[in-house]
Amino acid sequence: MKVVCTLDDLSSHTGGCLVPTMGALHEGHASLIDRGVRAGMPVVVSIFVNPTQFGPAEDFDRYPRTLEADLEICERHGAEAAWTPSVEDLYPDGAEAARAAANHLRLPPVATTPRLEDGCRAGHFAGVAQVVSRLFDLARPALSVFGEKDFQQLRLIEELVETDRRGERRWPHLRILRGDTVREADGLAMSSRNRYLSPDDRSRAVGISKALQTAHAAQQPATAENLMAQTLEAHGLEVEYAVVRDPANLMPVDDLRGPTRALIAARLGEVRLIDNAPLPAWP
Ligand code: PAJ
Repeated sequence: MKVVCTLDDLSSHTGGCLVPTMGALHEGHASLIDRGVRAGMPVVVSIFVNPTQFGPAEDFDRYPRTLEADLEICERHGAEAAWTPSVEDLYPDGAEAARAAANHLRLPPVATTPRLEDGCRAGHFAGVAQVVSRLFDLARPALSVFGEKDFQQLRLIEELVETDRRGERRWPHLRILRGDTVREADGLAMSSRNRYLSPDDRSRAVGISKALQTAHAAQQPATAENLMAQTLEAHGLEVEYAVVRDPANLMPVDDLRGPTRALIAARLGEVRLIDNAPLPAWP
């Protein structure tokens, strides 16, 4: 496997499958690499902790950086290259100028109106759209894989590419694939931030996937939301949102007859965790 550190070296790895990550790789990330390999594409994994998607009070400085272990995972899962761009590669005018520029980006409604991650993390999706667009511009992938774990982010990327298809066609041949959420044995969705949980909080964190399960019993959105909130609180989790939404625009739904998605953000002390799952449709 090649470790690509410069844009010059990247030029011989364009046109394949790009798996964008911020490193601290786990089996969830690895499953996205597998997805690209199974599609028969040479896979490039980008590893870049993007400063413009972190708020001033968020964990950019202490975000885990585990490059050696990350490279091993990429290699083991058959990636052709791991690309570790510098800040200057992605943001030639520097991170501060990029952060200012992100404020002026026009985002699709799915990233600005649902009041989910967009409501809790001001500026986050502008930074995500900015860095992913830049990664696409430079790596020119034909395929890119994103996890359902970050469902609103996935929908944002799908909309960016779709809008692009209708507009100036910045990435004309790009297709986005969805990766299933990979979980620990007890149901907790794998996340780079799980390592911050104390043993006590780690055992409470199972409340999130349990809450998503309890929502399956409800026949009305409001009932599902109440059941989820109760389960989260019973496990000592602080609820940011626990809602049932339309899986396309992520806006509220009136009933559970069509496709819906349950989405949760909850806190255990300093650690913020998110998860989501589809709900069964009632006749
Ligand atoms: P990061 O959190 O490293 O996640 C990279 C990719 O892995 C995302 O598509 C995410 O949805 C997926 N992922 C995370 N946990 C997963 C799990 N348990 N199962 C399956 N897939 C999982 O998301 C980002 O980085 C950044 O915002 C990025 C898109 C790289 C832009 O900076």
